[in-house]
This record gives sequence, structure tokens and C-alpha cells, in this order.
Amino acid sequence: MLDMAAKVLHRELTGDPPALPPQRALFGAGPANVDPRVSRALAAPLVGHLDPYFLQVMDETMAMLRQVFRTTNHHTIPMSATGSGGLETILLNLLEPGDECVVGVIGFFGQRLAEMSARAGATVRVVEAALGEVIAPERFEAELQKKPAKLVALVHAETSTGAWQPVPEVAEIAHRHGALIAIDCVTSLGGVPVEIDQWGIDAAGSCSQKCIGSPPGLSPVTFGPRALAAVRRRRAKPTTWYFDLNALFQYWGESDGPRERAFHHTAPVASIYALREALRLVLEEGLEARWARHGAAHERFADGLQRLGLELFTPATHRLPQLNVIRIPKGVDDATVRRRLLERGIEIAGGFGPLKGMIWRVGLMGYNATPERVDLLLGALAEALKH
Ligand SMILES: Cc1ncc(COP(=O)(O)O)c(C=O)c1O
Repeated sequence: MLDMAAKVLHRELTGDPPALPPQRALFGAGPANVDPRVSRALAAPLVGHLDPYFLQVMDETMAMLRQVFRTTNHHTIPMSATGSGGLETILLNLLEPGDECVVGVIGFFGQRLAEMSARAGATVRVVEAALGEVIAPERFEAELQKKPAKLVALVHAETSTGAWQPVPEVAEIAHRHGALIAIDCVTSLGGVPVEIDQWGIDAAGSCSQKCIGSPPGLSPVTFGPRALAAVRRRRAKPTTWYFDLNALFQYWGESDGPRERAFHHTAPVASIYALREALRLVLEEGLEARWARHGAAHERFADGLQRLGLELFTPATHRLPQLNVIRIPKGVDDATVRRRLLERGIEIAGGFGPLKGMIWRVGLMGYNATPERVDLLLGALAEALKH
């Protein structure tokens, strides 16, 4: 009897079959919606993380990630963590207590790199620019002339301000001064050019949920020969066990070809299926075509905003196409507009810290960077502002 009552209560509370999550058009700063092929891959039969089939999936994923990062670096894997975990892997492996590190800060995510570097024990020197601006590469040169550093770290696409930081020039400067360079390409990879080998980037970390087009939960990273040599020269093991590169590559493999795979952690098998499918989609489309699609979606959106009388916050000289930052007009309430949009199933993001209440951040990433999706969003935004 009691059992029956519990069942009825459960059905009333949850719906039977259980209610599905709401359908949302995800125009925030990520996650973005994913292609149905990626959703289907998530539901594929599970195998074990050391199954021969899965070892093949790992190799395929590594090979495709190399193509997307435009690198021949063997050490290119999806970390079992979100973007922050990949970035922390880079900093905790490359930095040791007492090392000098120069960090470029143009917003919230640059500050995080500085914080992570300091927690790795490095002495952090920050080169900063105002919110919405980017750092002129010569400023890194001036900083390194004052005192050398082991590492220069910076964010390529600053999601908190929509700014697109020049990177190749900074890489050239860093190397000329004997420093390594690491970049956060969480928001850039798959949306705008990221050329790891051509630019000479030593380490880079990204995420699965933005322009790559997979659910959140994985962080693609790549390490080049100079970075690996620095890891080999460490005075002591990194203080992290989970993110220790040496241990990780006993599982992912130190080199191509047949090899022993030692258990490190239980890889998120379904997430890696989904990432592999998303990478296939990226490569089927072609990186150049994908960058052009993000550019075209941005142009269409910017034109639409102009018709609505809305202004973009980030100067046109270094505006990211995949992350559009809109100034909230005077007299318009941030939260009310976002709530109205959400009632229609549309998510956009607000601002962080000093930009809270002043801006909206609109991601046009991966699956959402199409004319149809842009028009859907513009229509809903016009409605929400009308009230
Ligand atoms: C530029 C940048 N870096 C790092 C992160 C952190 O990534 P995650 O939230 O996947 O840990 C984000 C997240 O939006 C980001 O935009």
C-alpha cells in the first residue's frame, strides 16, 4: 500500500515518463546547441575505457584534434575536465615555484590564468589592458626586456569582453626572449583561426562546448616539444596528480603506434564519442569554411542589432565574431530582458564584474552560427525589447 502511494507521489512529482529538460536555443557564452549527430553519439553503447574499440576512438580523437589545432604535436588530447581543467593542466605542468610568468589580462579569464599561475607557485607579472581592449604585442616585449620569464600566458578570445587578442606577434616576442607561450583558446578554437604550429604556440587549452560543438565536460589541450622539454626539466613532480602530464600519457600513449596503455582514470567514454562526432563535423565542413560561417553569422547579427538601435561594446578592430557583446541601452533592465527571452526558450548571457548589468553577451557558436538561428534570435530580441 505504502509502496503504491510512493509510486503515485513520484509520478505526480516527476511526470511519467520523467519530464525532459526544456528545449533551449543556447546563445549564451557556451554551451551552445549541438548537432543531432553529436546527441546520437552520446547515446551510443558504452564500452570500457580500456576496450580495444575505445583505444581506437582515443587515437581517432587525438588525430582529429591535431587537425583542428593545426599541429603535428603528438601530445594532443581531450582532458577529462572542462576548459578550466585543461588550462590548469598547462600551468601546473609548465610552472614550478619560483618561476617567472607574464600573464596578459584583458578580462575575467585572463585574471583566472594569473590566479592559476600564482597557485602553481610562479611569480606572476601582469600586462593589462582596459575591458574591451587588447594588449599591444610590444607591451609583452617591454615586460620581458625588464626581466626574463619562463612562460607568457594569455587568452586568445576573451569571453568576458568579446575582445580578440593578437597572438602570433606575442609568440614571436616570447620566443625571442627565451620564454614559452601558452594560450587559452577556449572560445576561439573552431570559430576563428588557431594555428598552433604556424604561430609557434607551445601549449594551448580549449573546451568542448563552444565552437567545437559538443557538450561541456572535455578540454582539448596540446603540448609542443619545447613545452614537453620544460616538463622533463622540472625540479619536482607537479603538485597535481590528476593533471600530471607524465601520468596522463601513460594512458593516452607517449607516441603513436601500438603501445601499452596504463590505467590512469576512467575516461568519460560517452563524452569522447560525442567530441569525436563533433570533430568529424568540423573537419567535414572544413576549418576555413567554419571560420567563414562564424564571420557571416556575426555580420548578419551586427546588421540586425543596428536596425534595433543596439550597439556593440567591443571596438570593431578586435571584435570576436562568435561572442558578441552588446551595450544594454539606458533604461533597459538586463535581467527583465533575459528573463523574457528565456520564457521563449532563448538563453543569452549577462556581464561579469564591472560589466554586470551593462552588457549582454551573445554567442553565435558552432550549430548556432547560421542565418536561421541569427534571425530567430534577432526576432526574439526585438520582441523582448518592445515591452
Ligand atoms: C576564455 C575562457 N577561458 C576559460 C573558460 C573556462 O572554461 P570552462 O567553463 O569550460 O571550465 C571559459 C569559459 O567560458 C572561457 O570563456
